[in-house]
Amino acid sequence: MRIDTFKIEEWMNRYCPSAVYDLTTTCIEPFSTRELLSICDTANPFEVLDTKLTYGDIQGSPRLKNAIQSLYTNQEVQNITVTHGAIGANQLVFESLLEKGDDVLSIVPTYQQHYSIPKAIGAQVKLQFLQEENKWLPNLKELESNLTRRTKLICLNNPNNPTGAVIPDEMLERIVEIAKSNNSWILSDEVYRGLNMVGNPYSKSIADMYEKGISVGSMSKTYSLPGLRVGWICAREDLIAEINKHREYNTISVSILDDYFSALALENRQYIQARNFQIMKQGLSILNDWLNEEIYVKANLPSGGTTALIRYKKEFPSKVLCRELQSKTGVALLPGETMEMEGTVRIGFCTNPETLKKGLKEFSKFLRTIE
Ligand SMILES: Cc1ncc(COP(=O)(O)O)c(C=O)c1O
Repeated sequence: MRIDTFKIEEWMNRYCPSAVYDLTTTCIEPFSTRELLSICDTANPFEVLDTKLTYGDIQGSPRLKNAIQSLYTNQEVQNITVTHGAIGANQLVFESLLEKGDDVLSIVPTYQQHYSIPKAIGAQVKLQFLQEENKWLPNLKELESNLTRRTKLICLNNPNNPTGAVIPDEMLERIVEIAKSNNSWILSDEVYRGLNMVGNPYSKSIADMYEKGISVGSMSKTYSLPGLRVGWICAREDLIAEINKHREYNTISVSILDDYFSALALENRQYIQARNFQIMKQGLSILNDWLNEEIYVKANLPSGGTTALIRYKKEFPSKVLCRELQSKTGVALLPGETMEMEGTVRIGFCTNPETLKKGLKEFSKFLRTIE
């Protein structure tokens, strides 16, 4: 199977390791194992030390699945399968559901998996671009008119990476109605679910709203544990069975240690969330102050997630801008071109506050040195 280069991943692999101020990150300051154990009421380090490093429970331990189930309102453990991160989850959904000739509608900007994998499978992929004027929320009339009789799958990412927009629950209900009337599945990549800045931190999950709704979640973003490489898919039982058929070929199980720490973290998520909201609030306030002062950029302030998409008021290709910025100042940003959004850059605002402050200051200085 031929596939396009994953532009974001390629860029980050190349430029992040040498960054002094890395503002590309989408994770909220990850935990060390020691920190995690110290905040979890149910932690018992001996449990880890005495665990035999077998394959463990092939489709995820009952303890982990129960913890995942508690993030949803209408799901049973049979509706869940555990994967190698959300990246493994998305891949499994696409390969289990799609065939050559299907139509897929992907709302962009988004994580590139959501259009490049369907394209590689041979689906006809239509991209619907989010607009700043609509606060980066999908235009529902456009969504309706972009569907064809063959649209098997609509791909969303809510909260959205890179814009930080959160689709309000009422709008999600409307999207479900539209998908239902076309008999289309919805894949909602919900790796930032639980990170809404206003109101309930958790938006409704698409799996709880629609019988053809597929939710993907992960330990990486909301729970600050990207090193665990644990994600999951929550969907109708017959689809999970089909996904598990594919999963046998590329997963066996996730590491028994990853499974254990993930269950522990989800059982104690209130502590993780309290800590993460402090970091998010602080980052958002630094970003807000900078946006209010910096005349060469404009952006909608994120309402969730960990990133903002910034439009800069300079005639400069985003990749050149990011390359020069990093070589002159050490600040790493993600160029919009890697997300099909030329003229913009993505800033991860949930990094260390000092790094964020210094990085933005250097970016401002740099903007004044270019035409
Ligand atoms: C929207 C989205 N989906 C999936 C992933 C992959 O997440 P994971 O680390 O759980 O594989 C990312 C990572 O940046 C992401 O932003």
